[in-house]
Amino acid sequence: MQAIFDESLVTGNELIDEQHKELIGKINDLVKSCETGKEKTTAVKMLDYLSDYTDFHFSAEEKLQEEIGYSQISEHKEQHKAFIQAIKELYEMLQEEEGPTPAFVAAVDKNVTEWLFKHIKGFDKAVAEYARNN
Ligand SMILES: [Fe+2]
Repeated sequence: MQAIFDESLVTGNELIDEQHKELIGKINDLVKSCETGKEKTTAVKMLDYLSDYTDFHFSAEEKLQEEIGYSQISEHKEQHKAFIQAIKELYEMLQEEEGPTPAFVAAVDKNVTEWLFKHIKGFDKAVAEYARNN
């Protein structure tokens, strides 16, 4: 499943939207690295990039929420923690195998791509709306 940024993911907050485009691009690079090379080192490298950018992006989002005094910040932080945990589990899956398996790709689809799209449409749009009104 390709990860593509489309209109349904626009929150209206320019900073968040730009970072989401970058993040989704990194997810797509990971997906592609599983389809083409099937090489473990490439997948690990792509996962490293995704993990680093996720940390950067979540910090920026959480900083914004602190600045605007967002009331649901602790619930939102819990969501981010769950995503970071999913990435950790992907590392573990890769370590146990020769390279990205179909189960690995399925976990990326479900726990990264689908999860993030749902998170953006619900949680991040709520933050952007709060930022506009406060
Ligand atoms: Fe978020």
